[in-house]
Amino acid sequence: SSTTPISPSPPSAIPPFAFAFDIDGVLLHVNQPIPGAAAALQHLHRLNIPFILLTNGGGRYEADRVADLQQRLGLDSMQTRTDAHDPDCAGPLPILSTANFVQSHTPFQELLDNAAGLDDGAGGDEISSGSDGGLRGQTILVTGSDAARVRTIAERYGFRNVIIPADILAAYPAIYPFNPLLKSVYAETARPLPKPLLLEGGNLAVNSGEKALSDTDESNYLRIAAAFVFNDPRDWALDIQILTDMLQARRGLLGTFDPASLSAKGSEGGTRLFFSNSDLLWAAKYHLPRFGQGAFAAAVAGVWAQMVSTEQPPLLSPKGGRSTLLGKPNAATYRFAERTLRQYRASLLEAHASQASPAAKDAPLQTVYMVGDNPDSDIAGANQFSSAHGTDWCSVLVETGVYDPARDKSSPDYLRHRPRAIVNDVRAAVRWALQREG
Ligand code: G3P
Ligand code: MG
Repeated sequence: SSTTPISPSPPSAIPPFAFAFDIDGVLLHVNQPIPGAAAALQHLHRLNIPFILLTNGGGRYEADRVADLQQRLGLDSMQTRTDAHDPDCAGPLPILSTANFVQSHTPFQELLDNAAGLDDGAGGDEISSGSDGGLRGQTILVTGSDAARVRTIAERYGFRNVIIPADILAAYPAIYPFNPLLKSVYAETARPLPKPLLLEGGNLAVNSGEKALSDTDESNYLRIAAAFVFNDPRDWALDIQILTDMLQARRGLLGTFDPASLSAKGSEGGTRLFFSNSDLLWAAKYHLPRFGQGAFAAAVAGVWAQMVSTEQPPLLSPKGGRSTLLGKPNAATYRFAERTLRQYRASLLEAHASQASPAAKDAPLQTVYMVGDNPDSDIAGANQFSSAHGTDWCSVLVETGVYDPARDKSSPDYLRHRPRAIVNDVRAAVRWALQREG
């Protein structure tokens, strides 16, 4: 049962397996800790078994979110592994820090200095902004549940020129012909745009009261190199309008219209759009799952599909689409997560070097137990990444979140992505994995 202790005393080496835990529906439900979650993490920590948290959530800076999780899970009172009575405890590494935490938009930082920063050379799922070099100094558009906060996160990552939809709306109110949903928020958070829009063609300039600009030097006008959806936007209407304007602009020059953008082939050099989370659904307070960022992505893609040639690849298509999807179940996120986990594991090995045998120090990571509640996200991603990869990502499904076993029984197709194990909760998942490892 899920109330019995998991295992006895700590081992003296770092084992060849590790864990990746989903948050919503595994460690927390509606921001409240799921029973046994903190104990499971603490137990692994004492056993020197590395783990990361891997969530499709986002919207707060990593260090702030980690501090919040420590408090919610009660981990701040058991932070270090230093234990005077336990010679196997290796040093002052916290149970949870930004070093073992990956949220939906964490991988965006890979694009600061290298537009193909998450490309492992295998092709297919790599992130590329479509431009040379990194995006650190280029103008990017960001949005999310709180676009002003999301801008701050992007700036803390190191992006230097970050704009939000409110900046565009404040400078060019005619871009959105209705009363804005979040008018006072936009008024409070808008900043001046770094450059004016190139209002080229159509009658937007007339409608807005702006004089049409016809300077031939495009460098004088706002060019959006990439757009990032950090987490679930609230004002879908404004955001879809602006993102669609961006997709049909000529080489990122918002305010222009490139007819080729709507053609079968699409325009050359247009702005790329990044979504950080493709979850259609997630487990919230309501008894049925609620829309996640994947629903917003589907809405943008649906509107765009109505505008363009039916021959054009879908916006969200991994091959040839204009957008990149990150977050579980996408391989780029699993690749980033595994790299983070390996770095974290290396720091544990380092801290533990005095006790570990040379063989243990070199023991490769063989298995990552992905403990998740969403079959279409956590489980699908682990299964797909595992089959394409050297390290085995072993999927373990819990029943404390999105997954509904009653629905599974009534509909054989529901559980399309089969986990290696289905257990009650996170504590049972850890126990199952530790028993499997002997
Ligand atoms: O908005 C967050 C939600 O989509 C899923 O979070 O922790 O279950 O990956 P998580
Ligand atoms: Mg979840």
